[in-house]
Amino acid sequence: MWRMPRIKILLLLLFIFSCVCSSIRAAVSYDDKAIIINGRRRILMSGSIHYPRSTPEMWPGLIKKAKDGGLDVIQTYVFWNGHEPSPGKYNFEGRYDLVKFIKLIQEAGLYVNLRIGPYVCAEWNFGGFPVWLKYVPGMSFRTDNEPFKVAMERFTAKIVNMMKSEELFEPQGGPIILSQIENEYGPVEWDIGAPGKAYTKWAAQMANGLKTGVPWIMCKQEDAPDPMIDTCNGFYCEKFTPNKPYKPKMFTELWTGWFTEFGGPVPTRPVEDIAYAVARFIQNNGSFVNYYMYHGGTNFGRTAGGLFITTSYDYDAPIDEYGLLNEPKWGHLRDLHTAIKLIEPALVSAYPTVTYPGKNQEIHVFQAKSGGCAAFLSNFDPQVSAKITFGNSQYDLPPWSISILQDCKDEVFNTATVKAPSTQKKMTTVASFDWQSYDEEAPSSDDSDTFSMSGLYEQLNVTRDASDYLWYLTEIDISPNEEFLKNGQFPELTVMSAGHALHVFINNQLAGTVWGSLKNTKITFSQNVKLRAGVNKISMLSVSVGLANVGTHFENYNIGILGPITLKGLDDGTRDLTKQQWSYKVGLKGERLSLHTLDGSSSVEWLQGSFVAQKQPLTWYKTTFNAPKGDAPLALDMNGMGKGQIWVNGEGVGRYWPANKAHGNCDKCSYAGIYNENKCNQYCGEPSQRWYHVPRSWLRPTGNFLVIFEEWGGNPDWITLVQRTT
Ligand code: GAL
Repeated sequence: MWRMPRIKILLLLLFIFSCVCSSIRAAVSYDDKAIIINGRRRILMSGSIHYPRSTPEMWPGLIKKAKDGGLDVIQTYVFWNGHEPSPGKYNFEGRYDLVKFIKLIQEAGLYVNLRIGPYVCAEWNFGGFPVWLKYVPGMSFRTDNEPFKVAMERFTAKIVNMMKSEELFEPQGGPIILSQIENEYGPVEWDIGAPGKAYTKWAAQMANGLKTGVPWIMCKQEDAPDPMIDTCNGFYCEKFTPNKPYKPKMFTELWTGWFTEFGGPVPTRPVEDIAYAVARFIQNNGSFVNYYMYHGGTNFGRTAGGLFITTSYDYDAPIDEYGLLNEPKWGHLRDLHTAIKLIEPALVSAYPTVTYPGKNQEIHVFQAKSGGCAAFLSNFDPQVSAKITFGNSQYDLPPWSISILQDCKDEVFNTATVKAPSTQKKMTTVASFDWQSYDEEAPSSDDSDTFSMSGLYEQLNVTRDASDYLWYLTEIDISPNEEFLKNGQFPELTVMSAGHALHVFINNQLAGTVWGSLKNTKITFSQNVKLRAGVNKISMLSVSVGLANVGTHFENYNIGILGPITLKGLDDGTRDLTKQQWSYKVGLKGERLSLHTLDGSSSVEWLQGSFVAQKQPLTWYKTTFNAPKGDAPLALDMNGMGKGQIWVNGEGVGRYWPANKAHGNCDKCSYAGIYNENKCNQYCGEPSQRWYHVPRSWLRPTGNFLVIFEEWGGNPDWITLVQRTT
């Protein structure tokens, strides 16, 4: 009988063993140095791309650009209110196809950092919470509250189980290496004390109990219980230390710019300073950096939140809103990542030793036992360049910069020396439009879908955010003997509102508009109004501009006209209108008729040619257009319009408000010196947002249906379709 020689049996066993081993992956873990994937410590470069802020058709291109830019990881939040628009009714389609997004990242060979939250902040409507949650009996948000914890656990488990069943966690062979529970809860806990502490503990235990096989992070949460990793968010994080010596030092949000608010300028952040923040973090033993945002994208439809946040969420990120490279930002960071990869072996195997060759200068050396060596030479002086002698060489450093030395010798990168090319962004007009218009009249209190009561209703409670709009309607009787009818000194109407914008119509004529800002959402309308003898109609359109995304007690969050409302200057003094009979109507007539769709729009008569309304409040406009040839990204130039919303082929492009001009300081800025979001502004005195991204994938070659609702009055003939090129 033939017998297999012993050595062959041994080799065969070894072969079988190694096959089995490589198919069972180790769970992702961590130590004081780094996240450990498959037994290897890694220096990970990550970037935030939020899937609903672009289209599935854009995802592969964005992911490829992230990979070519030298990223290892893509970070995203999970957007609860997008996934569960009404209780138990889930949406994981289209822009909310989370599994598809993660699988595309996996196909590209990148990892995922999944920030489930489910509170996300993120300049997203209501911080990601579904508005219906506010009306669950006994609800109190983000604290030790049973109804909240039940809902939070249910959604978190739903997402984790979905990821598990699709085998998307790393130990299952998937790309997810990290998850996040909550978001920046530390400051809130500080605010609310004991119940906050209990909630933190509960959230950590709940998340851990879901057994994902990958570490959980809690950002900005100094007391994150083990084994959760507490991490840092900010413009700089080099001074941060995790709460236990056995946790790695992670920078989960390095802000690459900042968001824009209507009424504010557009913030930018110089790439030299971003690279400097990264290098400073890594030289101080940091091992994970995530750019928030790497691609900011667009707050389509009514998803923008945090009050007055623009539809553009460009963020001055390395990939711009349209999916094009924002150069030299993208290229300079790619060069930085290349340098970091070159020295990764030394970084993961040694701790830095620090020396101080001069004032504002530091040298950080990572000398690995295996012989590898990496060094960072820093010049923290924001004005003066430095010469640093290190080893046998001398190195020249521009102000506020760090040089990275491979093998502790060859300078492979300096944060302030940008070699990547700059590009000029251009918007070129490719089409104009032929409009038709339809008047949205102020409703009347006996319309079928109005309801009445004495006193004022809070807006969100009535609309449940189904619309930005709520009408408040009432009437006032003016005696023909009133003095003001003779002397023309009209009485003053004062209306106090919790926000966000308010159009006041007296007898169907727009009397005035007031609006707030991110810092001051409360508004007061106070104006002399032209009243006549007899019955006068007061119709007020209260408009929300995104719901708050930051804070504690979302259950107490109010918008709309809460009063008091007074009329001053009548013969008998001041009349209080607060408690009188008010009628309410949710949304616009055009919304109920779905005028933003082709079908809906055919239910009414539209004015054409010379009858098309101009500079008239409350007007719907519609047109059709053909898609321009090519694949350059497209936008609508809304200059000349006031405030409203845009739809293309039934999809919500977003809120527009070019009439809200950017207030602020746009002085020239230097990359050097501590950065903050007010330092490098653009577009002062111009619209905070003029161009509105229309994704190519929403268009067909011909007959695209464009609808606009204008609240204020604007000139639609100025609107053009533009092409974005660099
Ligand atoms: C952070 C928050 C993010 C985002 C950012 C500002 O504090 O975690 O979600 O809101 O601020 O863009």
